[in-house]
Amino acid sequence: MDKQSFFDTQAADPIDRVGGKAKVTGTARYAADEKLQGMAYGFLVGSTVAKGRIKTIDTKEAERAPGVLAVITHMNAPKIPGYQTGKDPSKPPTAGQPLRIFYNSEIFYYDQPIALVVADTYERVLHAAKLVKAQYEKAAHQTNLETNTDKGKIPTGPRFEDYSRGEADAYKKAAVKIEQEYYHPIEVHNPMELGNTVAHWESKNKLVVYTKTQGVEATRRSIQDAFRLPAENITVHAEQIGGAFGMALRTWPYEIAAILGAQKVGRPLKLVLHREQMFTNVGHRPATMQKIGLGATADGKLTGITHEATANTSAYEEFTEATVNISQFLYACPNVNTRYRIVPLNVCTPIWMRGPGEATGSFALESALDELAFALNIDPIELRHRNHADTDPERNLPWSSKYLKECYQMGAEKIGWKARKLQPRSLQDGDWLVGYGMGSGAFGAFRWAATVKGRLQQDGTLLLQCSVNDMGPGTATMMTAVAVDVMGLPTSKVRVQTGSTGLPPGPTQGGSNVTATVGSAVHDVCMALKQEMAALASKEGSPFHTANVHSVKVEDLNFEDGVISLKKNPAIKISYSDLLQQNGLTVLEQTKESKGQQQQYSMYSFSVHFVKLRVHTATGRIKIDHVVSCADAGTIVSAKTAASQMIGGAVGGIGMALMEDMVIDHRFGRPINNNLADYHVPVNADIPEVDVLFVGKKDPFINPMGSKGLGEISLIGVAPAVANAVFNATGKRIRSLPITPDKLI
Ligand code: MOS
Repeated sequence: MDKQSFFDTQAADPIDRVGGKAKVTGTARYAADEKLQGMAYGFLVGSTVAKGRIKTIDTKEAERAPGVLAVITHMNAPKIPGYQTGKDPSKPPTAGQPLRIFYNSEIFYYDQPIALVVADTYERVLHAAKLVKAQYEKAAHQTNLETNTDKGKIPTGPRFEDYSRGEADAYKKAAVKIEQEYYHPIEVHNPMELGNTVAHWESKNKLVVYTKTQGVEATRRSIQDAFRLPAENITVHAEQIGGAFGMALRTWPYEIAAILGAQKVGRPLKLVLHREQMFTNVGHRPATMQKIGLGATADGKLTGITHEATANTSAYEEFTEATVNISQFLYACPNVNTRYRIVPLNVCTPIWMRGPGEATGSFALESALDELAFALNIDPIELRHRNHADTDPERNLPWSSKYLKECYQMGAEKIGWKARKLQPRSLQDGDWLVGYGMGSGAFGAFRWAATVKGRLQQDGTLLLQCSVNDMGPGTATMMTAVAVDVMGLPTSKVRVQTGSTGLPPGPTQGGSNVTATVGSAVHDVCMALKQEMAALASKEGSPFHTANVHSVKVEDLNFEDGVISLKKNPAIKISYSDLLQQNGLTVLEQTKESKGQQQQYSMYSFSVHFVKLRVHTATGRIKIDHVVSCADAGTIVSAKTAASQMIGGAVGGIGMALMEDMVIDHRFGRPINNNLADYHVPVNADIPEVDVLFVGKKDPFINPMGSKGLGEISLIGVAPAVANAVFNATGKRIRSLPITPDKLI
């Protein structure tokens, strides 16, 4: 990067969302938009019990219904080679394994698919699906985390063993201590786009799948494992994704069912989940019970942190996330210990949901910090300053970059923190109590491997290709922004192609890695193209050569607006397009793999969220007045896209704090608010002004742009900021999410 870079590009003329217009005008194509010749429609029938066995399943009536092509159950399902357990088929196949759909009669959760009906039209398949009848041998199910926390066990694998540095449970001996429990219920991702798959066997062992996934490469590997096909025989497309928040981070049984159904009927098959099935069959953020112990000296130095969490997993598989890890590194504290447990429940396996682990963990930790600040009569920001970790206390490494203090400062200023009173119930506006709260977030700044191909064409356009997916944060926009900056091209001259296997392999979109990962590869490709252009510009016949410059280097040149000029004499110039033409080239092509680097530094993104809200004294209604979200995410590649990302996270965090709650009727083990009318998420009227502030300082170590991830920290820390503001307004500490009005009156 010769210019001092990304900031200039965005400040003056921010890049609009690439593909944004297609999305809002309805021309963007999602998996279920595929219309293939002879396509059949599938629908899944779910179990009506939460645990037990299918005693009998009667599919005759469904099979006789008009247009029905097949009804697949565990009785007649074609064998999925990857599901077989070898010599002993009686061995429980699902212990610790993903759910094997239609494998046997065992039921692990309510709405577990028991049949796939396939018909020639969508209406007919819905009709026929209602005619499948099953009888069950019921067993006693468990769906309530709160009554099962005693069954918590340490997950298998080294990453989740108890952690300890210094003395365990040291908080108990501290001069001032906080010991509290925090709870949040199951939350469901519920992106706008439903889970959907179109499966098409082009021949007996050649498969094309259009599906909702955050990683086409990962989906291909899962299909490979299940169907034992060579990778080159499987193509996976997910060019557009209508949101996911993590729910498309794995291949779900419904996708396997669609592929199986297509195989069985010998036609392409489309399967779209119903909204109800989005609550039961594609994961959730697990319910989590947390216990925090904080100990401090009278002047507010932390002397002990103990963080315990118990979360649900499914009855057939271990799901884990880094819930307690944030307590290991966020603050300087000599004595820290954490314990993480999971409890099998009769629900679908959870899956990471935006800010996985840390969002949950920070709710407890950052609420407890606020409680400690109150007990010490110290401003919560001041308390955090007193315990600022100058280096990573967990790994004993320097941070690659950390501007958390800057976040505290800029956010406090913007929200008007100095109007806040330490004493709750101090600010009133008519019938409303007014409060301020804040919460911090952090998430690992990851950089993985990606390969990007860049093709600079004779007309001066650059095509960038990578199989990486974009579930919504704006991957194509980010890639465009990097290319515009590094290559010196106008936005209109960059095209991006993503979301299919067959393109150069990119990472799964998850863990806020994509800008760092794919952006680096785009950077490297553009640098290589510039080298190539510089070499061409040195050749006989080029204006530089004519001007007696025989060996130009990239450093001697300006690359701007599709034109190369000599720094020393900008009148000597040539457009990229003319340069290719002069050399008789139709295209310049470079492919670069960029890899994650060795970690001599501890790399995290940081955020601080501030909330000003009001609580109605008579009704307990909470109205958020203002949110300020501040992020240290290194260089911001595309300010507009990044700000949108942050606003989305704030909305998610407000939902987590005030509304989201999948309510299970534990008598039957089934959700009772499995629709978007009863499962509340914030709507426009619930969301106030959200100000997004970036520190914007380059991380010198993570990648050539200096960018750290943003997707997770946008949400991590929002829920405690809301809960802390509720306390500041009302004096009521709500430790169980969501904070609904009934808890306040
Ligand atoms: Mo995210 S939970 O990394 O999709």
